[in-house]
Amino acid sequence: MKILLIGATSAIAKAFARSYAEKSAHFYLLARNQNQLKELANDLKIRGASSTSYSAIDLAHTKTHSAAMRNAGEFLVNVDVALICHGSLPNQENCERDYNMAEQEITVNGLSTISLCTEIVKIFKNQNSGTLAVITSVAGDRGRQPNFIYGAAKSLVSTYLQGLRGKLLPYNIHVVDIKPGLVDSPMTAEFQKGPLWSTPELVADKIIDSIEKKKHTAYVPGYWRLIMVIVCLIPEFIFKRLKI
Ligand SMILES: NC(=O)c1ccc[n+]([C@@H]2O[C@H](COP(=O)([O-])OP(=O)(O)OC[C@H]3O[C@@H](n4cnc5c(N)ncnc54)[C@H](OP(=O)(O)O)[C@@H]3O)[C@@H](O)[C@H]2O)c1
Repeated sequence: MKILLIGATSAIAKAFARSYAEKSAHFYLLARNQNQLKELANDLKIRGASSTSYSAIDLAHTKTHSAAMRNAGEFLVNVDVALICHGSLPNQENCERDYNMAEQEITVNGLSTISLCTEIVKIFKNQNSGTLAVITSVAGDRGRQPNFIYGAAKSLVSTYLQGLRGKLLPYNIHVVDIKPGLVDSPMTAEFQKGPLWSTPELVADKIIDSIEKKKHTAYVPGYWRLIMVIVCLIPEFIFKRLKI
């Protein structure tokens, strides 16, 4: 298995990579922090990865994506799976006050992913195969007061993936949208945890299952599908009064 892992140093990406390293996968890793990339690449090799290479990149700079994807494609030769994992949890209040902050967060959580998908699709179309897996969020299913900038960016990506999935059907390219609920990771380090929280390892297992079973949209864990159906059914005249 040849894997392009974007946002490779995220807790979920690392758990995903460790599972595939044990199956002797090949990896091209992209993330921001060179030292963490080096550490991860070494760790994956010790766990059984057949080969690893990596490159540091700030994914907010979309103009660099084309070259980065080209380098990844040259290293892996044939890419079986591309998993996009990077993201940031914005300060909602600051984003409401300052458009530049909102734009930056929408770029990181939304536009940068669309830019990456555009380049990955070129690789997949050339080889007439591939699985594109993208982590979005249940936050994209309905705009909630505490995090609608993040939610709007994730919703942008989910809608994009829905359309892209159909367009890529004739090319033998599979598109899967991974929608985690609450995950205990560095992104949520400051949150108080409760029964609805899951681990990066559990999310990684579900991503692997979704890729292997060619699912379209995976709520992770599955109970989030039911939770979000209920959240989406709440009439707007009530929902607009909720601060959840
Ligand atoms: N944790 C949750 O509750 C939750 C729920 C739903 C969805 N998600 C999504 O799951 C994905 C993985 O998140 P996680 O929970 O594993 O959190 P995480 O461990 O904090 O990972 C986030 C990763 O994104 C990277 N990143 C942020 N901005 C970047 C940029 N401009 N360029 C390159 N890399 C950048 C971070 O790199 P640095 O270390 O360099 O900052 C970090 O590796 C994200 O898309 C997130 O939105 C998370």
